[in-house]
Amino acid sequence: MPQARTEAVASAVPNDLESFWIPFTPNRAFKKAPRLIARAKGTISRQAAELDYAPAFQFSHPKAFELASRLAALAPGELDHAFFCNSGSEAVDTALKIALAYHNVRGQASRVRLIGRERGYHGVGFGGISVGGIAPNRKYFGALLAGVDHLPHTYNREKQAFTKGEPEWGGHLADELDRLVALHDASTIAAVIVEPMAGSTGVLPPPKGYLERLRAICNKHGILLIFDEVITAFGRLGTAFAAERYGVMPDMITFAKGVTSGTVPMAGVILRKGIYDAFMRGPEHVIELFHGYTYSAHPLACAAGIATLDVYRDEKLFERAAALEGKWADAAMSLKGTPGVLDIRTLGLVAAIDLSSRPDAYGKRAYDSMEKAFHEHGLMFRITGDTIALSPPLIISEDEIGEIFDKVGKVIRQVN
Ligand SMILES: Cc1ncc(COP(=O)(O)O)c(C=O)c1O
Repeated sequence: MPQARTEAVASAVPNDLESFWIPFTPNRAFKKAPRLIARAKGTISRQAAELDYAPAFQFSHPKAFELASRLAALAPGELDHAFFCNSGSEAVDTALKIALAYHNVRGQASRVRLIGRERGYHGVGFGGISVGGIAPNRKYFGALLAGVDHLPHTYNREKQAFTKGEPEWGGHLADELDRLVALHDASTIAAVIVEPMAGSTGVLPPPKGYLERLRAICNKHGILLIFDEVITAFGRLGTAFAAERYGVMPDMITFAKGVTSGTVPMAGVILRKGIYDAFMRGPEHVIELFHGYTYSAHPLACAAGIATLDVYRDEKLFERAAALEGKWADAAMSLKGTPGVLDIRTLGLVAAIDLSSRPDAYGKRAYDSMEKAFHEHGLMFRITGDTIALSPPLIISEDEIGEIFDKVGKVIRQVN
C-alpha cells in the first residue's frame, strides 16, 4: 500500500454542534445528520520537533528554499520562482497583486484591470470573488474590486454533453478576450486569470484549443496570463500541472491543496523569472514586494510539501493518474442513461455528473445524494448545485473506481 495513504474514519457526534459555523455548508441540514471524519493516518511529525516556526519576513529557513527549488524544477518552461502563502484564496490574491505591481514597476501603471471568467472559482478573498464568476459567492459582499471584467464560460450542454476530456466545441470563446481588449484597451488590462479546468462550478474541461488561443491573445497585448491550478496542479490531470498537459505556458500558476496533499495548509504562486527580475531593482536594502503572510513558507508546511513531492515522485502518482484516466472516464460514462442524469464530464481523475433538478428545489437532489452516499454507502463526494463532482485520491485502484461509480449509480437511482 502506498505510504501516503490517508485513511478517513467516520466519527461519533460531539455534544455541541452549535458553536462552529461551518464554511460552504448548509449548517442546519448538516447539524441534523453530521458527516464527521475523525482520524486520518499519515501525517508530518518530525519537522515539529526540529523547527516549529521561523519568522516569514526578513528571516527564513532552509526548507522554504528547498521546496521552492523543487517546485521550480517541477514546473514547466520558465516558471522558476515561488511565493508562498497558506490557502488557494491567498494564492489568487497574491498572483493578482503581483500582476498589478509588475506592470507598475515596469512603468505601465495604467494596466489596472483584471479579467476573470463566468463560473470561475478563485477562492473567497476580495480579489478572488471579484474575478470569480459564481453569483452566490459574490452577491452578498458589496461592490467588489473595481475594473474587473469577465470572459464567458465555456459550457454548452447541447454541443458538449457526455464528452470525455476536452470538448471539440468552444475553443472560439477565447476570442471574447479580443472583444474585451477592444472595449477596455490593452493598456488598461493587467492580467487574465482562469482555471485551466473550471473545478468548483462543476468540472468544465477546457475546449480544444481554448487555452492556446487565450495565451496568443495575451501575448499579442502584453497581458499576463494566470492559471489558477489550485485543483489541477500535482497530478490531477495526469501531469504535474495542467499547463504541461496543454503545452500552454502561463506567466503565473497558483497552487495549494495537492502541494501537501492537504496535510498542512500550504499554497503559493509559481512565476517566471522575468516577473521576479522586474522587481529586483532599486536599493538592495529596500523590500521589493510589499506583500506576504506571517505563515508564508511555514516550516511544517514546507516539510509537508517536500515529503509530498517525494511521494508523488517515488510512487509515480502523476503517471498513475494519467494511466487511469481512460478507465476512470469509461466508468463515469457507464452512468449515461441513468434516469435523471443530464450530462457527464471527465478529465484526468475528475468527473462531474449533472442531475436534473427537482422543480421546486434546485440543488436538493444532489444534496440528498451526498447524504445518502455518505451515510448509506461510505462514499464521500462533493456537490455544486445539482452537480455531483468526484475527485479521488491519485492512489485509487481500478477496483475502487468501479466501486465508486457503482455506488454513485445506486445513489442517483435512490434520489430519483
Ligand atoms: C481554482 C481554485 N482557486 C482557489 C481556491 C481557493 O482555495 P482555498 O479554499 O484554499 O482558499 C480553490 C478551492 O477549491 C480553487 O478550486
